[in-house]
Amino acid sequence: MPRPTTTSLLATLSAILLAGCSAGPAPVSFKSDIKPLIDKYCTECHLQGGAGTEASGFLTDSYDNLMKGTQFGPVVVAGDPLSSSFYRLVAGKVDPSIRMPHGKEALSDVEIAKIEHWITQGAKNN
Ligand code: HEC
Repeated sequence: MPRPTTTSLLATLSAILLAGCSAGPAPVSFKSDIKPLIDKYCTECHLQGGAGTEASGFLTDSYDNLMKGTQFGPVVVAGDPLSSSFYRLVAGKVDPSIRMPHGKEALSDVEIAKIEHWITQGAKNN
């Protein structure tokens, strides 16, 4: 039998480990995390009359339009980043010629992770 001090130490340690595992990545907000990234990297071409919108029908000026996607359908599948072309295009999981933003510097790893977590967390308008 372990002495009481060992038992309580183990209990404390497992509580810390459990808390760490269940917390997962920090909650991502559409308004304060994702919208600013889209405004910075996408909307110059994906606004009404922009080159990206003309070519694909994809408008990034609002949450509703983002969720509508392109003329071919949605680019965000809530809960599933790898099925979301919005994520795959910015994460470089596509041919470099169609990577987004077109002809510009890619998003940073931290920014790409935010988009991934936002989608995993349900792609909410939060
Ligand atoms: C410099 C202009 C430009 C910027 C900036 C830009 N795009 Fe595009 N985007 C385009 C053009 C042009 C197309 C038309 C299709 C093509 O040429 O690949 C397009 C097409 C798309 C498509 C449709 C692809 C398909 O297969 O139908 C998506 C989704 C997309 N862009 C997402 C984004 C996202 C997300 C961002 C910001 C991270 C972004 N774009 C930034 C120009 C741009």
